[in-house]
Amino acid sequence: MTEGKTAPAEGSISYPNKSVVVRMEDGIAWVSLNRPEKRNAINPAIVFEMNEVLDNLEMDDSCRVVVITGSGDAFSAGQDLKEYFREPDAGPPALRERLHKANAQWQWRRLMHFSKPTIAMVNGWCFGGAFQFLLACDLAIADEKAVFGLSEINWGIIPAGIVTKSVAMAVLQRQAMYYIMTGETFDGKRAEEIGIVNFAVPKDQLEERVRKLAHVLMKKNPHVLRACKSGYHYVRDLPWDMAAEYLAAKSDQTKHRDPEQGDQKGMTQFLDEKSYRPGLGAYNRDK
Ligand code: ACO
Repeated sequence: MTEGKTAPAEGSISYPNKSVVVRMEDGIAWVSLNRPEKRNAINPAIVFEMNEVLDNLEMDDSCRVVVITGSGDAFSAGQDLKEYFREPDAGPPALRERLHKANAQWQWRRLMHFSKPTIAMVNGWCFGGAFQFLLACDLAIADEKAVFGLSEINWGIIPAGIVTKSVAMAVLQRQAMYYIMTGETFDGKRAEEIGIVNFAVPKDQLEERVRKLAHVLMKKNPHVLRACKSGYHYVRDLPWDMAAEYLAAKSDQTKHRDPEQGDQKGMTQFLDEKSYRPGLGAYNRDK
């Protein structure tokens, strides 16, 4: 155990040097960035470990929902100014390029299209680069007192990587420009109001609220959930006619490839057995 790290809880999967800890619980993988002493700032160790963690979780059938959070009192203080910027900037450009590509890979390319549902649990400080993986998660719940900030302007850089794009896609122009240009912090409640997170709740309810949401997702057909995610991300940037074509093709592909033939089950249970109401909850996947 590296000094200063939070000990992994029982049931954790071990990864190389524990800058990331994964705890498996009843289908949920609780993934914690684990540098609490540095407010979970993203350094190269986290970058490479998170790529490995996501790879492993994607292949692991016992993982059905991924929750990303931070150890201690921070979600993440963004990119590590020393280990992610200053040191690599002074080194060979090829190494820096490799690091930045690997970072983009886990923080948004990979996460946005992750094959299982993802929830960001924002438990505290959330700055700069942390918005990338926060907004690449499908859903997000925050501690109402968590502190968010697009602080890049405060130290003389623009919100690069894909931060500006992520924020522009999630919130309205006035709010995006205000927080990008002032660097002013805001709390979880405000993050909920402007659409950065789904809900903000008191700290003592945070984990339970996330667990409840994860259980709702686990009742749905995972194959269809995955297709819903692809549909959402791809059609946002397509013209209407192309979006309709894409969704029609995706819908046919989803039905064709669905191992549990969910639409047939749903129809039988509603129309023939009259055993459930699709408007009020998922069909019974065990029948
Ligand atoms: N990069 C590198 N080190 C960091 C970072 C960071 N982003 N954030 C915190 N740390 C380190 C501090 O240097 C300090 O290290 P030390 O103990 O060796 O001195 C340690 O983490 C604790 O930080 P404090 O500032 O003492 O913690 P505090 O709880 O008082 O404040 C806060 C927390 C507000 C998050 C503060 O650390 C901060 O402002 N961090 C920078 C946030 C930021 O602007 N992030 C954006 C980075 S740019 C980007 O992501 C693109």
